Amino acid sequence: MKKRILTVSSANMDFLMNVMQIPLAGQTVSSPGTYSFVPGGKGANSAVAISRLGGESIFCTRLGNDSNGALLRAIYEREGLDTRFVFTDQAAPTGLAAIMVEPSGQNRIIVFPGSNNCVCEDDIESAMLSRPDALLMHMEIPSSAVITAARYASEKNIPIIIDAGPAKKDFPLDRLPKLKIFSPNETETEIFTGISPGSPDNCLRASMALSRLVDAEYYVLKLGDRGCYIYDGKYYHCLPAYDTNVVDTTAAGDAFTAALTLEYLRCGDIVRAGKFANAVGAVTVSGSGALPSLPTGSDIAQFIRDKGEKI
Ligand code: RIB
Repeated sequence: MKKRILTVSSANMDFLMNVMQIPLAGQTVSSPGTYSFVPGGKGANSAVAISRLGGESIFCTRLGNDSNGALLRAIYEREGLDTRFVFTDQAAPTGLAAIMVEPSGQNRIIVFPGSNNCVCEDDIESAMLSRPDALLMHMEIPSSAVITAARYASEKNIPIIIDAGPAKKDFPLDRLPKLKIFSPNETETEIFTGISPGSPDNCLRASMALSRLVDAEYYVLKLGDRGCYIYDGKYYHCLPAYDTNVVDTTAAGDAFTAALTLEYLRCGDIVRAGKFANAVGAVTVSGSGALPSLPTGSDIAQFIRDKGEKI
């Protein structure tokens, strides 16, 4: 039976600019390179990743009543998402992200949240009727919506996974019920704890600090090209990243958390899930753009075989 994951989160159209140089304040740069409009948004990226990796993916978000909204909805349907809880907001425009990617693959993103800011309690209440095996969220919708959804899920004993992107310093972590997994990247870890997880010692210190801020069974730090760090309150595991050719890091974290959630539900082993998520992150960074770079289950099986490992 496929695992059913409800993602309550954001959807954006990404204005993707591949540039040679990112301008400084007050500077105009005429850059060779390319630009395109690509489907993205942390929630949509995770929801599509779940579907491509073999899960049943239910998506709850808000789009604007505009051409970007219509385009994104059609894409989600084509990707096999359950879109019954993808609502159309009559007032706010579809979210838009401006993304600049440097030749190294590093990105800088500014999000105009638009209709993502209108995800509300009624949307969440109806989406919870889908009876998912897990609830996945990011912080790209209002904090009140994240807390409401987490509380609904907790009442129904549904495991809750929170990807802490984009971290909001003032997010009331103490109002969240017990989570299954809390997963920030390096920047987000530092925003919440003041500790940069640059070394194994600091990963442990940061994880322990997180455990005082938010109650979770597992803290999974996403460390980019260093892999991930898993802490369960007692033991830790450092899982190195796979070697890969980095083209664009956009959506790698969203794909990682989606894969971590799906594989954990499938096998109940957080370390195995972390290795699988590392592979999904590695394949995602080797492609350009958010949704277009997300791998399928067979892409990952092939990638792991090519590395001479077993799944
Ligand atoms: O994590 C990458 C995503 O962040 C992009 O697709 C962009 O839309 C922003 O939400």
